[in-house]
Parts: sequence; structure tokens; C-alpha cells
Amino acid sequence: MILVMGGAGYIGSHTVKHLIQNGYEVVVADNLCSGHKQAVQNAHFEIADLLNPQSIDAVFKKYKIDTVIHFAAFLSVGESVENPAKYYRNNVVGTLNLLDTMIANNVKNIVFSSTAAVFGNPQYTPIDEAHPTSPINPYGQTKLMIEKIFADYRRAYGLNYIALRYFNASGCSSDATIGESHNPETHLIPLVLKAINGERENIKIFGTDYDTPDGTCIRDYIHVEDLATAHRLAIEHINEYSGEINLGTSKGTSVKEIIEIAENITGKKCPVVFTERRAGDPAILCASNQKAYKVLGWKPTKSMKDIIETAWKWEQNKKF
Ligand code: UFG
Repeated sequence: MILVMGGAGYIGSHTVKHLIQNGYEVVVADNLCSGHKQAVQNAHFEIADLLNPQSIDAVFKKYKIDTVIHFAAFLSVGESVENPAKYYRNNVVGTLNLLDTMIANNVKNIVFSSTAAVFGNPQYTPIDEAHPTSPINPYGQTKLMIEKIFADYRRAYGLNYIALRYFNASGCSSDATIGESHNPETHLIPLVLKAINGERENIKIFGTDYDTPDGTCIRDYIHVEDLATAHRLAIEHINEYSGEINLGTSKGTSVKEIIEIAENITGKKCPVVFTERRAGDPAILCASNQKAYKVLGWKPTKSMKDIIETAWKWEQNKKF
């Protein structure tokens, strides 16, 4: 049985759906502070909180767990700068509680939600795993600290781990039964689609003077279903490899290009306002995915068009 901590969230729920489609038995544990119970389909479900180790231990006692996938974390870069205590406590202390509970219950395998934010301002792109890590905000720091904790726990306690560093997770389930639903929403693609369907007045483009062909930031958008597949492959390779793996498409798309693609797909105009740069945004973030292919046999399968089409379908029929 696979335990998915934070399986009611965006990437977690898509991974759970994929695992179940591939014949895995799954228990989701979530405190529902930001996840959605309706996003968990066909899996066992338990309320548990990483800051309450007894609640986690109860899940390990109730189910026969062999591997954990850990998504349960706060993820807002801006909030992490304003309230670092919340991030270090929840993300780092919470993960320590989870790891200690795993070890006490003799469970040694973990796949972890890491992020491109561990790199900070890139020295070169595409960013491979040899690129130096130097986070520029507490959110990225928490994820990097956890990666280092894994390496120490591996040496001392024989932990097997794969930390998957996502670039820009985006898109939604192809059948539109689950999708992205953050509150507040800060991510570009859902905000563009909300501006298009009138739920928001406009989309603010944060900076048009970057050193990129059209002056707006370039990101590597990766479909959430491709990420889900990578988690399954990580489980299947966890006895052969421990370490960090970058997950992206290797292709960058600018903010202006996203808006153009969204306008083409929806057939509607997106109201745009040009504003100042947002603090902490590097001009270009793009992943090398060669290691993901070498270690996991993983390759992204979805295009930018798939991402926006599925996100649009979800935006129009949101269930939560
Ligand atoms: N952007 C806008 N307007 C908006 C929102 C975003 O112009 O209203 C721009 C940003 O400046 C950025 C791009 O759109 O250039 C993407 O922004 P997102 O907020 O969607 O995503 P980020 O690249 O900032 O962050 C994502 C994840 C983080 C993770 C980071 C790693 O959401 O959790 O990638 O690089 F830390």
C-alpha cells in the first residue's frame, strides 16, 4: 500500500488517480487545510497532520504501508518570505515527524515533492541536477533542507528517497474530474483563464523588461499528469536509486506566449495589465530532463496546448 501524504492537493490528487489507474492500492492522509476531500477518488482516506505525529503513526498502524509519497507542504513563495516560521515548522518539522514515524514503523521508501525553487537564480539553463542549489526564499530553503535531511537519513538509517524537483506544474486531469484549485490562486495559467472567463478583471504581467525575446519571464510548464507518471516511476525505481531528479519539459514558454495560446484555445481575449516585476522572479527557468529519462525512463508527453486545454476544461466545470 502506498501512503500519499497531502494526496488531496493539486499534484497529490492527480498522482493518486494515476496510481489507482495503474493498479496500486493507496491511502491518502491529509489535514485538508488546503486540499479538497472531493479530489480523492477511490483511495482510502485518513485525516492526519504532520505536526501531530500520533495522527501519522495511527495511519501506519492501520495500513500496511511500503512506500510514502510526500506532498504535504505549504507552497507560496511570497507567504514564506512574510511568515518563515510557518514554513520551517510545517515543511521541515512536519517532514521530520513523518520520517521518524516511518523509521519507527520500519518503512524506508519515500518519494518527495521538491521544487525548482531550490536553485534560486539560475547560473545556466537548462538546469541539470549538477547546478548549484541556492534558494532565494524560505519556501525553497525548506525543500532544500529536506533533501539534505534525506541524504543524512539514508546514511544513518538506510532511507531510500527520490526528491522530484518540479518546474511549473500545470494543467489538469484529461477527464476534468479533478484540477487545480488553490485559495488564493497565484499561478499564472489559472489566473489567465479566470481573466478570460470574467472571474477576474485582468491578468497582471509581472515585468516586460526581462532579458528574454519578448521581455516577459520564461518558465518550463509541465503537465500534472506527466508529473503523476514520474511519481509512479519513482516508486518503481526507489530500490535502485536515491537522490534528486529535475522534472520539466526542457522547453520554455514566456508569459506573453501563455496568454496568446490561451486566447487561441478559448477563442476569447484576455484583459492584460502590464506591471512591475515581482520580487524573486528569475528571467528564465528551464529544466534538463535527461536524468529523469536515464534513471526513471521518464519523458514528458503533454504539450503546452494540452496543458491549457485541460486547464480550461477544468476552469469551466470546476467541481471544487
Ligand atoms: N506571473 C505573472 N502574473 C501573475 C502570476 C504570475 O506575470 O499574476 C508570472 C510570474 O512572474 C512568472 C510566471 O508568471 O514569471 C509563472 O508564475 P507562477 O506564479 O505561476 O509560478 P512560479 O514560476 O513563480 O512558481 C512555480 C511554483 C512555485 C515554485 C517555483 C519554482 O508555483 O511553487 O515555480 O521555480 F517554487
